[in-house]
Amino acid sequence: MKRRDFVKLGLITSWSTFLNADNTKQKISVFPSFSKPLAIPPILKPKLLKDGTKEYNLNVQEGIVEFLNGSKTKTYGVNIDFLGPTIRVNKNDTLKMNVKNSLKEETVIHWHGLKVLGKNDGGPNRSIHPNDTWTTKFQINQRSSMCWYHPHTHEKTGEQVFKGISGLFIIDDEDSLNLDIPKNYGIDDIPLVVQDRRFDTQGQFLYKQSMHDTMMGVTGNFSLINGIVDPYVKVSAKNIRFRILNGSNARIYRFMFNDKRAFYQIAGDSSFLPKPVKMTTLLLSPGERAEILVDLSDLAGKGILFGDELGGKPLLKIFVKDEKSQKYEIPKKLTTINEYKNIIESNVREFELNIRPGWLAINGKQMDMKRIDEVVPLGKTEIWRIKNPQRMPHPFHIHGCSFKIISRNGNKPYLNESGLKDTVLLLSNETVDIAIKFEYESTKKYPYMYHCHILEHEDAGMMGQFIVKK
Ligand code: C2O
Ligand code: CU
Ligand code: CU
Repeated sequence: MKRRDFVKLGLITSWSTFLNADNTKQKISVFPSFSKPLAIPPILKPKLLKDGTKEYNLNVQEGIVEFLNGSKTKTYGVNIDFLGPTIRVNKNDTLKMNVKNSLKEETVIHWHGLKVLGKNDGGPNRSIHPNDTWTTKFQINQRSSMCWYHPHTHEKTGEQVFKGISGLFIIDDEDSLNLDIPKNYGIDDIPLVVQDRRFDTQGQFLYKQSMHDTMMGVTGNFSLINGIVDPYVKVSAKNIRFRILNGSNARIYRFMFNDKRAFYQIAGDSSFLPKPVKMTTLLLSPGERAEILVDLSDLAGKGILFGDELGGKPLLKIFVKDEKSQKYEIPKKLTTINEYKNIIESNVREFELNIRPGWLAINGKQMDMKRIDEVVPLGKTEIWRIKNPQRMPHPFHIHGCSFKIISRNGNKPYLNESGLKDTVLLLSNETVDIAIKFEYESTKKYPYMYHCHILEHEDAGMMGQFIVKK
């Protein structure tokens, strides 16, 4: 699909015709679609230190995975061959993270969505050398949400994520623990890390090949969920919660079920939504997360497909067990968002995304590690106005905070954007205003970043650095 067709889409394609269709172009053997069970990323057990700190060991390593029948694809992963374990913590927990680099090249891990000091986060200004371990300690002080971790290596983020370094970071608080919603991890509360990959004829990942890949971002004709190509999952005949991360380098999805059934979005990037929002399609750009509840109680003994309307293909087959169905009422209210109420007279900071052949920038400047682009006051609410004057959509992401969308092109934001977020998609010619406040400092040595989350854009310079200080 051409990006310029993006805004015009409304088509529902017949997904069945797409099964394995692309694969015939390649001389590689594939597994039949929906023949492999969905993998659930394991929850990493911390070591409990005497003072209550939870210590986690992450080992960034090489691996080998048989994504395609008979091919041994070289991968990267964290503690495992591809992707990494889920880190699951409670609000107020103190964490000690040991990140070991067992690769043959430099890397660094960024806590996407975590509100931590610049010096506790990984960005291009830090790098872990091969065989070194980076240790950092911080406290979790934010709402329940599903965040994630991934590399942020200078000019190599896209490639290292493509090879497989990414994992989920789930935070619980009173809301997530007390709400009457499905909570059984991997059973009725199912994480879905959605990615796409391209392979060469040997079955190896085929990353950036051309200027076109840099400009459009690297996409692939194979879809992976939790590291499995076209998986299936078996669930009970009831309401199921899916926590979705668009962990792709560049692909934007519009998720839906093949019978077009309605579902409810209950959470976005950084918080629950105030109320469940009923919808039939869900647009999600790289870096964004959404949690949905879908009622499958009418499907006992049957199946349904979850897929992507934009790519015109199914991604996951859901089998519903042939058992007595369970009825359940979705809570009417999920949380109260008190942050960013009554914003009066705030400083407005503008960011314009620039793209020209071979040149990607923000406010006319390409990322330069030696330059600090903005100095932002600690604890003060500002309005950041992000403008995308071109055709191609860009997801804009900011480190060290969670913000609230105030308006899109002067209009109210979408209902499913009414929670807190850290990444916002700008379609063509859109201007988005967000209210933003930083509660943690970042320094010249370890600044925060704002950038496009199309990772090839980020690596090519659509990124800026800022410090937060009193
Ligand atoms: Cu998910 Cu600066 O990135
Ligand atoms: Cu981030
Ligand atoms: Cu971009």
